[in-house]
Amino acid sequence: MPEPFCWDDQYRVDGGVIDEEHQRLFELANDVFAFEDPDSQVDEFKETVVALFDYARRHFANEEALMEKVRHPRLSQHANAHRAIVAEMTRQIKACQSLEKLAHELRCLMVDWVMRHILDEDRKITASLRRGGTAHPAPA
Ligand SMILES: [Fe+2]
Repeated sequence: MPEPFCWDDQYRVDGGVIDEEHQRLFELANDVFAFEDPDSQVDEFKETVVALFDYARRHFANEEALMEKVRHPRLSQHANAHRAIVAEMTRQIKACQSLEKLAHELRCLMVDWVMRHILDEDRKITASLRRGGTAHPAPA
């Protein structure tokens, strides 16, 4: 059983809604990866994958709306990165031949794309949020 995704301060972006949504994204990803044998629980597994997929799309839209509000300078590149993640998730789901393999591919996507994206790109939003007055101070 792989280690669950754990949110910690290195992923912190705004100390508010974005961080809460990232934490929820990690929880939903952990729900997907908690299945011991996805091929024996097909309906439950599919529902869990759909929940992760839908939430990721909603979160990306929320994040882009916030970036637009604070006039983040890299909004279009950032939105393209979101679209690429959604497109890859869609491709994996459509090409799925085994749910176990899908779980593995989604896990790689979460590690290589989503968590890397949070660390490399989402954290750049913090400066724009500070300028826009919407970043919450880090806890002491
Ligand atoms: Fe993002």
